[in-house]
Amino acid sequence: MDDAFDPVASGARAAFFKAVVNGLSQLQKTLPCQYFYDEIGSNLFEQITTLDEYYPTRTETAILQQNAADIAQALGPDVLLVEYGAGASTKTRILLDSLNRIAGYVPIDVSEDFLLDTADGLRNEYPDLPVHPIVGDFMGRFGLPSEARGTPVGFFPGSTIGNLDDVEIGAFMRAARALLGADGQFLLGVDLRKSADILIPAYDDSRGVTAAFNLNLLTRINRELGADFNLDTFRHKAVWNDAASQIEMHLESLVDQSVTIGADQFKFTAGETIHTENSRKFDLESLTAQLSDAGWQLQHSWQDERRYFAVLLLSAQ
Ligand code: AVJ
Repeated sequence: MDDAFDPVASGARAAFFKAVVNGLSQLQKTLPCQYFYDEIGSNLFEQITTLDEYYPTRTETAILQQNAADIAQALGPDVLLVEYGAGASTKTRILLDSLNRIAGYVPIDVSEDFLLDTADGLRNEYPDLPVHPIVGDFMGRFGLPSEARGTPVGFFPGSTIGNLDDVEIGAFMRAARALLGADGQFLLGVDLRKSADILIPAYDDSRGVTAAFNLNLLTRINRELGADFNLDTFRHKAVWNDAASQIEMHLESLVDQSVTIGADQFKFTAGETIHTENSRKFDLESLTAQLSDAGWQLQHSWQDERRYFAVLLLSAQ
């Protein structure tokens, strides 16, 4: 057997296999959205961030740029910036460039190669900046590197927190409170509730990049787990769930069919969907109450003029 098709060849692939079989065994089939980001998916996401219809990235970047001096002043000197799910981010650079006497940078990411490349790039660009990468899932428990100095400030941009449900947000923010300590602060980027006329195109763009991003998950499952999804028989769907205040991405089967993954078969009826992502759109009042329950007090919020997006400054309470 080709080892690319052996579901237990590595721990990571075994975990992927287990998550996929578990998700497809539910009544409403699901797949976990963290698996979008293989190399192709990461590149497609980068393309999404440049689309006219996808407002979050450019809106948040503008908020950070326009308020960089205020943010730096509110955070104070000697910040140890702890970034959750660190990317190759332009947003990080905006903070690194504006903070006063930054004490260090701790990027946390599951993808080791990517993380260590990013860390090396930043060490070159900022020779005086101590960079202490942590390889791991940011939902897991870990300590700050013992060499790290400065006042910890968590940074979680992009409204990636919108992928989490309420229980997960509570657990994540409580763990962050424990990690960052009583002097800790947190900069959190959140996408706000707005009209479905704006939201739907942002997640179902005219060029089909988001469709390709969603469908790539099936391509990845075919390649890494030896499944036989026929990509021509699934289509991308973006749905606004107003009651849950979230955009949901689904992959809809266009026909009755069955798909094989290892020893398992999964049946689909025409019109049945796999739910692949929630992207929650927050209301500041209820989010603030929820963050407060998790040990964080809202100090300030910066927003764009249209109130599409907010960057929140929280302090440990
Ligand atoms: C990276 C999770 C913030 O929810 O807007 C973009 C992912 N999904 N288009 C988002 C995504 C479809 C994105 N996050």
